[in-house]
Amino acid sequence: MEQQFEGVRGADTLDIASVREDFPFFAAQDTAYLDNSATSLCPECVIRTVSEHYLREKASPFRGLYPLSVQITEAYEAARETVRGFINAPEAAEVIFTRNASESLNLIAYSLGSHILRPGDEVLVGITEHHSNMLPWRMAAERTGAKVRYLLCEPDGTYREETLREALNGRTKILAITHCSNVFGRVNDLRRFAELCHANGTLIVADGAQSVPHMPVDVQELGVDFLVFSGHKMLTPMGIGVLWGRRALLEEMPPFLTGGEMIDAVTTDEIWWAPLPQKFEAGTVNTGGALALAEAIRYLGRVGFDRIQKREADLTRMLVEGILDTPHVRLIGSQDPAEHHGIAAFTVEGVHPHDISAIMSDGGVCIRAGHHCAQPLHQHLGIPSSSRASVMFYNTEEEIGRFLTVLRSIRGAMGYAE
Ligand SMILES: Cc1ncc(COP(=O)(O)O)c(C=O)c1O
Repeated sequence: MEQQFEGVRGADTLDIASVREDFPFFAAQDTAYLDNSATSLCPECVIRTVSEHYLREKASPFRGLYPLSVQITEAYEAARETVRGFINAPEAAEVIFTRNASESLNLIAYSLGSHILRPGDEVLVGITEHHSNMLPWRMAAERTGAKVRYLLCEPDGTYREETLREALNGRTKILAITHCSNVFGRVNDLRRFAELCHANGTLIVADGAQSVPHMPVDVQELGVDFLVFSGHKMLTPMGIGVLWGRRALLEEMPPFLTGGEMIDAVTTDEIWWAPLPQKFEAGTVNTGGALALAEAIRYLGRVGFDRIQKREADLTRMLVEGILDTPHVRLIGSQDPAEHHGIAAFTVEGVHPHDISAIMSDGGVCIRAGHHCAQPLHQHLGIPSSSRASVMFYNTEEEIGRFLTVLRSIRGAMGYAE
C-alpha cells in the first residue's frame, strides 16, 4: 500500500486513478458518492487492518496477563499515540477513544457540565452546530440550572468577532462551536475565538468532525480546550471517535460512563478512579476501531494533506461554480468556493430536497437531503431543509459533472417549463 504512493510522493497533484484503486467501493458501485460529510469511504488497508486484527489476534486488552493481551494493549496504546501526533496533542493520555463525535460531545457536556455549571451560568452554542454539539449542552443546562444562549452567524455562515465579543459575559462558562460547519463548509477562526473566550474566562469546545479529515488540525495552535472528531468521516468503519481535552480539565472532570477498567480500586464504600485516559473509557474498548483510525491516519499521511487540500479545493470549486451557474438553484452560504471546504448545501426553487435526492439517486448520484442534523440553523436561515453535496479527495471531476447534469435536469423532471 505504501508503495502505491511512491510515484506521487513530493508531487503537487494526486494520481487519482491509483488513489481510487485503494477503495474497493469504486469497483463495486456505479454511483457518484457525494455524501462524504455524512460518512467517508474506506480504503482497503484500513479494512485489512481491522480484519487481520479480529481474525488473527483478538483478545481482551488491559485485562489479560498473557502475551497476546499485552500485545493488543500495546497496539491500542500505540494507536492513541498516533492520534496524539496527528492532532499534536501534548500527551497521549489526553486522547480518549469514544464511539464517535457525538459520544465525545455528550461526554464533555455531561462531565464538564456537571463539574463547572451552576444555576445562572451560560453556555454559548453556535447556531451552526450539528445537533450533536447542541443537544448535549441543552441537557447539561437542564440538569444544572444553567442557560443555553446561541451565537448567531451571518447569512453566509460567518461569525463576526463583534457578535462573539457582545455575547460573552461574566456568566459564560463554555463556548461550543464547530471548526467547520457541515452546512456552510466554512472554517471558523477558532484560534481567535479561543483568545476571546480565554480572556473572558470561558472554555472552548471545538467540534472537528468536518475539519479534522480534511486539513491539518493542531490543538496547540488552535488553542481550544477540547476537540472531538469521528473516525468514520476520515476513512474508518463506524464506531470509533476521539475526544481530546487538556489534562488539567480532564483530571478535574468526573467520569461519564462507569464500569470495568475505569477504576483503580473499588470497595463497597469507596471508588478510586483510574488515571487518564482510562477514567473515561469504561468497558471493553474498540481495539479494532482504534487500530483502523491509526491506519487511516497513516494513509492520509501517505496521500498528504497538502495534496488532499489542493485536490478538494479544485473539486469544491467545480462543484460550487456549477451550482452557482444553474438557474433556480440557491447555494447556501458564501458565493466563494474557497469558503466551502468540500461542502455545498443548496435549494432548488419549488422542489423538495427529498425529490432532489430521489432524482439524484436515479441519476446515479448520492447526496444528503434534509436538515443535516442542523435544524435550528435552517430555522435561522429561514428554510425548512436543503440538499448537500460533499466531496473527498478520491472523488473525480466526472462525478461532479454527473451531479451537475442531474441538477440541471431536476426542475424539468418536476414538470417546470425551465
Ligand atoms: C459538524 C458535525 N458534528 C458532529 C457530527 C456527529 O458525528 P457522529 O455522527 O459521527 O457522531 C457530525 C456528523 O455529521 C457533523 O457533521
